[in-house]
Amino acid sequence: MNHLEFRNVSVAFGHGPRRFVAVDDVSLSVPAGKIVGLVGESGSGKSTLARAAVGLCEPSAGSVLLDGVQVSHARGANARLRQRIQMIFQDPSSCLNPKLTIGQSVAEALDAAAKRAGTRTGRAQRAAETARLLESVQLPAARAADLPAALSGGQRQRVALARALAAAPGVILADEITSALDVSVQGSVLNLLRHIQRELGLGILFVSHNLAVVRYLCDEVAVMQSGRLVEHGETMTVLDHPRQDYTKTLLQAVPRIGEPLFAPATGMIQISEGAR
Ligand SMILES: Nc1ncnc2c1ncn2[C@@H]1O[C@H](COP(=O)(O)OP(=O)(O)O)[C@@H](O)[C@H]1O
Ligand SMILES: [Mg+2]
Repeated sequence: MNHLEFRNVSVAFGHGPRRFVAVDDVSLSVPAGKIVGLVGESGSGKSTLARAAVGLCEPSAGSVLLDGVQVSHARGANARLRQRIQMIFQDPSSCLNPKLTIGQSVAEALDAAAKRAGTRTGRAQRAAETARLLESVQLPAARAADLPAALSGGQRQRVALARALAAAPGVILADEITSALDVSVQGSVLNLLRHIQRELGLGILFVSHNLAVVRYLCDEVAVMQSGRLVEHGETMTVLDHPRQDYTKTLLQAVPRIGEPLFAPATGMIQISEGAR
């Protein structure tokens, strides 16, 4: 079981008259093995909500739970439990040390996970695990010797995914993970994510502004507006019969005929009809 739950989570920044509530009383579940899309206009609080799950910011009210155990404001064993929630960001370079080869980067993530678990990994085992993780994100083990600068954006995002997988997560928070990538590789990264999600039975909170991708990938969709969750339900229900005007407006912003969009059949972004 890897059930992530946001329970009445609020996140505020600043104090006094400068206090700003970025996330306002949000309750949302990411059931084990499900992909939940999180959409909403820029600044609506999507990243802040995701960051609150991994401890990059703490809720000012409410709590984050994993399998019913509170992991927000947690210490000790509960804080370690939080490592089962891993986040991947829009810009893969932000999590990769430019001076480490990608093999070293993945090995570093393995070491960090082992340290938290209080175990030690031998050199041979670490090398084997690193090769296995690179293979699992469909990067040839020979690329392990390359620096991030030698990789394409899509390959760097695969390394970021391998690093996240090093922590043996149950839940992944994917925050606009293909937004910075060339459209030609977005599809293959998304298909890889879905493949791994199915194989490992991961829960995923998939933050995106691309509703065509959300429709393809997600079991459920949650819609945020100005820090609040305004709509949530099964993907088809929310996208085909939105209850909120705000959701309808978001849907109207989906690429139209003649613009690039995601084509599930090929897993590639391509020009085609039927954007909605
Ligand atoms: N560390 C921070 N300090 C102050 N304000 C922040 C901080 N992080 C985010 N915000 C504000 O919170 C709001 C929500 O931001 P964010 O969660 O990044 O939105 P989204 O991911 O939906 O675009 C924005 O108005 C943003 O400026
Ligand atoms: Mg964001």
